[in-house]
Amino acid sequence: MIEIRRIKKAFGKTEAVRGVTLTVSKGEFFGLLGPNGAGKTTTINILSTLLKPDAGTVRIGGYDVQREAAQCKQLIGVVPQELALYDDLSAMENLIFWGRLYNIKRADAAERSLEMLRLFELDHRRNSLLKTFSGGMKRRVNIAAAMIHRPEILLMDEPTVGVDPQSRHQIYQILAQFSAQGITIIYTTHQMDEVEKLCSRIGIIDHGKLIACGTLDELRAFSGDSQLIVVTFENIQPDKLEMLKKKFSQSVKIADDRLSFKTENVAADLPPLISLCTELGLIIRHVAIERANLETIFLSLTGRKLRE
Ligand SMILES: Nc1ncnc2c1ncn2[C@@H]1O[C@H](COP(=O)(O)OP(=O)(O)OP(=O)(O)O)[C@@H](O)[C@H]1O
Ligand SMILES: [Mg+2]
Repeated sequence: MIEIRRIKKAFGKTEAVRGVTLTVSKGEFFGLLGPNGAGKTTTINILSTLLKPDAGTVRIGGYDVQREAAQCKQLIGVVPQELALYDDLSAMENLIFWGRLYNIKRADAAERSLEMLRLFELDHRRNSLLKTFSGGMKRRVNIAAAMIHRPEILLMDEPTVGVDPQSRHQIYQILAQFSAQGITIIYTTHQMDEVEKLCSRIGIIDHGKLIACGTLDELRAFSGDSQLIVVTFENIQPDKLEMLKKKFSQSVKIADDRLSFKTENVAADLPPLISLCTELGLIIRHVAIERANLETIFLSLTGRKLRE
């Protein structure tokens, strides 16, 4: 359904996307997980025909996003990271406006808008101006707007930012419903719990590259399916951390004041590590042993925490 081949995009010297290749099949709920600045929005903007890649190709439903943009646009609904709504129009008027952009007849657009507002439980506020809506309500209207022309594909860029837990839960339920109806969804976020809960397949993007891709179980296996020892130090001494890195037999990742490494045997690996730290005069603040989840998979792949 969506075939991305080696796309690249730079803004001046910033290489936002550095050769991403990915195929998403019909009906898949695909999560694109990555920290701030990873290249998620740039990727979504290329898929939604808004941005021309410097290299590479994207095909959506067999159509080329650059040469056949109009056909692609009919197939996709886009929920942008920034709200694309008019504050001085009512919820209903906003949705009808979007419907009209897709050449839907006014009466049909009105009918569909009401249907969407019912789905998102906002029909009782249909005639209120958008500026009187809460952040969570606006986000729901934003998603409704993306679905007004009944697209087969939904591209969502961090759609739950600023949404309260209750609305968030409602959005998840509606997305699960869309997914069950066979709609293909690409969902970007930097929140691991969202992709763990919603997505059938996950891609981890960092510094413009897809560094891992698969189901949660596949990603666990990919990162060794092991445990992770994470040590935080009281005194950050880069030279000593480097010495520790050289002397310790396991391959460790060091970022800021944190050291992490994968292990199959905590009991065997932890004591020599602690002795070595003491020897080097590094004061340990905290030691954690974590089972592989998306957070630890990310940490073991990049040496960094996802939320930083
Ligand atoms: N129009 C632009 N001009 C210059 N640099 C840009 C532009 N758009 C994005 N960038 C840069 O490209 C990189 C990737 O940005 P992008 O918005 O794709 O990341 P993101 O993963 O969506 O991040 P976030 O989680 O903060 O939304 C960043 O370094 C960003 O500063
Ligand atoms: Mg973004």
